[in-house]
Amino acid sequence: MFSHVPPYPGDPILSLMEAFQQDPRFAKVSLSIGLYFDEAGRLPVLDCVRQAGELLAREQSPSGYLPIEGIAPYRQLVQNLVFGTQHEAVRSQRIATVQTLGGSGALKLGADFIKHYFPDAEVWLSDPTWDNHLAIFQGAGLRTHSYPYYDAATGSLRFDAMLDTLRSLPSGSVVLLHASCHNPTGVDLSRAQWQQLIPVIVERGLIPFVDMAYQGFGDGLDEDAWSVRALADAGAQTFVANSFSKNFSLYGERVGGLSVVCSDAATAGNVLGQLKATVRSNYSSPPTHGARLVQQVLASPQLSAQWAQELAQMRGRIKDMRAQLHGALHERFGERRDFGFLLTQRGMFSYTGITEPQVHRLRDEHGVYLIRSGRMCMSGLSGANVQYVADAIAKVLEA
Ligand code: LMR
Repeated sequence: MFSHVPPYPGDPILSLMEAFQQDPRFAKVSLSIGLYFDEAGRLPVLDCVRQAGELLAREQSPSGYLPIEGIAPYRQLVQNLVFGTQHEAVRSQRIATVQTLGGSGALKLGADFIKHYFPDAEVWLSDPTWDNHLAIFQGAGLRTHSYPYYDAATGSLRFDAMLDTLRSLPSGSVVLLHASCHNPTGVDLSRAQWQQLIPVIVERGLIPFVDMAYQGFGDGLDEDAWSVRALADAGAQTFVANSFSKNFSLYGERVGGLSVVCSDAATAGNVLGQLKATVRSNYSSPPTHGARLVQQVLASPQLSAQWAQELAQMRGRIKDMRAQLHGALHERFGERRDFGFLLTQRGMFSYTGITEPQVHRLRDEHGVYLIRSGRMCMSGLSGANVQYVADAIAKVLEA
């Protein structure tokens, strides 16, 4: 009966995580999947989350069904964090926010909603983008295309070509944008570039869909959300998928949000209702624990200040690792090869220019795991392995 079902070739990112776990070698370094590891190579349990967990354990709340759209105070806290408490769109209640199963769940919910209410819309993704963007939007039955983004020759943005492409799109096209810490390149638009891009989006009647999976990993919580807020300021009716996987180190809890900025509160009410209908027919209602943890932290001035501090430490460590790897590679290559991109890119990821055959050699000969595109997750580096990784890269690049 199932003989026509083909084998699954595996996800390009998650299958590497499994391969790494099964790799018996002692000398191995995971720089593939986007997970933040601390200096000791562990996934951290943030102290603010630990305290929130203790408070929750004391409350012993039962685990009944949540409302379809999630916990009301949590949803409000998501809006406050993403847009800022004083943002006009928040105050005028023209944003519909739903608790989602991480950032991926938010993307999928938004994609299903778009397929239903804008069935002819086509989706434009940056070239390159996170592999799963394609899978999610295509899986929702939407056609996808790419717009120029990264210039491999210079390591910078093809910004003029990006703008030209967006200017040529039919009204109602969906444009997937990364708020900050672009995955996979680490190359973000500058504020000046956003200021050129946003009027094009508004004038052309495009639908921006912003993926914000790394809020706080670039320059700060407010700084990384600047583009989202600027879109809302400009009156763009915008989808925003946000995730707490990385910035709360709560990957497995699947906790995030989808916010849709609408023209007015009444429209936001309708959009929220139809998002609820979409959730109900998918998985009925969201899980409780992760959202309660995030809610506890964000609702407490003391715990949220502590969270901001812990996040700043993670951000600082990544920047430090960028500097250390840059230093080690510069020492080996001198002026023969420029690794300055390690210092200018933002967030967890770096597009290294390491080719697919070189990625295979790094893994096979040195146990250093990168994604086949040459994307490196900087937060897998530590003081203990950075020299080893630099040596391995030097051996592979110079062979
Ligand atoms: C990544 O890009 O590595 C992360 O977003 C994790 C994932 O699910 O792919």
